[in-house]
Amino acid sequence: IRTEKEVEGRFETIWLVVDEDSLDQWPSGPLDVVGRPATRKSGRARARGEAIYTADVRLSGMLSAAVLRSPYAHARVRHIDLSRALQAPGVRGAIGPGDAPEVEALAGYHGAPVAAIAADSEGQARAALRLIDVDWEVLEPVLDPDDAVRRGHFTSEPRHYERGDFDAAVAEADVVVESEYRTQVVLHNSLETHQSVCTWEGDTLVVYTSTQDIWGVRSGVAQALGMPADKIRVICEYMGGGFGAKNDPGHYTFIAAELAKRTGRPVRCALTRREENLAAGNRNATIQRLTVAARRDGTIVALGGEFVAALGWDGWMASTAGPMHGLYACPNVRTVEYAARVNTPPMAAFRAPGFVEGTFSLECLIDELAVKLEMDPLEIRRRNFSPADPSTGTAYSSNNLMECYARADKHWARRHDVRARSEGPWQRGVGMASQIWYGGGGPPAYAWVRVGSDARATVVTAMQDIGTGTRTAMSQIAAEELGLPLDSVDLVLGNTDRGPYAVAAAGSSTTPSMGPAIRAAAGDARRQILDIAAQRYEREPDQLTLRAGRIEAADGESWPVGEVLGLLGNAQILGKGARGPNPTGMGVHTFGVQVAEVAVDIETGEVRVERLAAIHDVGRVINPLGASSQLEGGVIQGIGHTLSEERLIDPATGQILTQTLDAYRMPTIADVPEIITELVDVPDPNLTSLGAKGLGEPPIIPVAAAIANAIRDATGADVHELPLDREEML
Ligand code: MOS
Repeated sequence: IRTEKEVEGRFETIWLVVDEDSLDQWPSGPLDVVGRPATRKSGRARARGEAIYTADVRLSGMLSAAVLRSPYAHARVRHIDLSRALQAPGVRGAIGPGDAPEVEALAGYHGAPVAAIAADSEGQARAALRLIDVDWEVLEPVLDPDDAVRRGHFTSEPRHYERGDFDAAVAEADVVVESEYRTQVVLHNSLETHQSVCTWEGDTLVVYTSTQDIWGVRSGVAQALGMPADKIRVICEYMGGGFGAKNDPGHYTFIAAELAKRTGRPVRCALTRREENLAAGNRNATIQRLTVAARRDGTIVALGGEFVAALGWDGWMASTAGPMHGLYACPNVRTVEYAARVNTPPMAAFRAPGFVEGTFSLECLIDELAVKLEMDPLEIRRRNFSPADPSTGTAYSSNNLMECYARADKHWARRHDVRARSEGPWQRGVGMASQIWYGGGGPPAYAWVRVGSDARATVVTAMQDIGTGTRTAMSQIAAEELGLPLDSVDLVLGNTDRGPYAVAAAGSSTTPSMGPAIRAAAGDARRQILDIAAQRYEREPDQLTLRAGRIEAADGESWPVGEVLGLLGNAQILGKGARGPNPTGMGVHTFGVQVAEVAVDIETGEVRVERLAAIHDVGRVINPLGASSQLEGGVIQGIGHTLSEERLIDPATGQILTQTLDAYRMPTIADVPEIITELVDVPDPNLTSLGAKGLGEPPIIPVAAAIANAIRDATGADVHELPLDREEML
């Protein structure tokens, strides 16, 4: 069949083979295993150091690579001489510009890779970098994104969007608010830095890599190296975090593959923490000049703006205007988005790219409108709720945003008490923000479920668990469908040669994409078990069910499932499952609202978030424990984005100043407020046999605006520029 696939708001048409998914949705609410809190299946292995991350891979004869990077924001290698470096102790190979994809003579940013060395030890490789002789032609950098737009320096064409008549609606409106917002560059800083170990087995390239997408690495390497994809095996069994910057192979993979080919040895190329903060992607900065127009009763009649995304030297333009297009029922919307190319490190997707930046501005703008109209911020949001997708007019597959607002009421009602606790220089206030995002997932995604005579099941699928508890949630789905206890289910993942195609751990798509495939595979295995049981116990298959490890007959008799499975001997049951397409003609989205309570010291500019309630609608919740952990993580990452994190560059040279975790201010546990998490947990009736959506990204989206609006409530100050550090506050 032909269908649409969406990842982080980017749509493409795909063709796929899929069996009809015949399973009915489970009833809502907690079941035997699904919907009940489960501790992480891999927690023990991770805590004991038994889990093998890419950083732990040690192959016989393995060399270490070090990368020579441009010290300039814009420069060209006129001439390079590797010969002295090749003579250095321990050095086994070296490559220069043009020898591997993404290793180029033209360096568009500080940190761009231009050469690399492989040596017996990492220290030897780094020492030899100093012996590479480079003749640089230093070029003028363009660093100001507005300047880049004026000069027409784009990575892609400007994106225009229009519905209704924006100008006429603004002219007729009772109230118009115009504001400019700026958001900063933030860095991903996952615990495991970007890295790969590459080794050649004949003409097959084996890539161990820290990735969110083993299949994306496979196809990316195939394309870049001109190899058949089936000659590339990608392995990632454990992974130390990824927020969007680990969706592609990356230059470090190409460097390791090329040096491994030249030396005939396995090669590791691992970024140091400093390199991680230079050349591993970032959330791009934005400048947003926005307008909202409304009637006196609070009905929004026009939204519009100019969005400049400073992407760096390369990258794709996420939809910063997306929230403006989709969050409110506004008939007249006009936006233009510019993908400004500047001489800074390229952006990479970062947890709800575009929507984090665009929701900060939109939801601050709505509160500024509420102030002008003297309306309650919650009331103005309810009034402009859109029961259908405002950008297409089509129905939502499900939308419980109004229920989120209803549940936000009790947190919002605390604002008078919170304000009353202001004392001396410490002013207190409460703010809120709403959230819309994608997160419906989609095909293709496949799984196998193997059940043996020991009454244990193994789910086999070539997906990855990036540390978010995917193994656990997916095992819960299989256990529920098979009627087996959770500890009787194992999951094999992380290897493109072991198991069928699975989706990336990106775009909040893992659970809604993989979950239905795994349930279908488990359902296929369950039907086979019941067929055997029907013969063994002389019943009709449709008179039998499988629950809590027992086969139950309609007449009340029951037997342990092991009795039937024991008949298999060395043979096994194999169930297969595929993820079907999303409903056609429906918008599939996630929704949420957050309420923040802050204290602001108006003498020092210090902002403390004291409490944050995160209420989200992501359809059915598989593992409430893992889900609340995801919400908390998103809120904490959002607090860093809002209050402290900022990549700084030297405005004269474009050199990156914040290369260490001393200089780059991440939130610490002292910055973490009381976090209240709440999930609506109503299955989407139109989305797969699970009714589950993804929640990786939603919780970071409304954080900045909720805090900024709380600061306005506390102090009366409009805040327009992230991060809201003390300098900005004063
Ligand atoms: Mo995406 S930013 O990899 O979830």
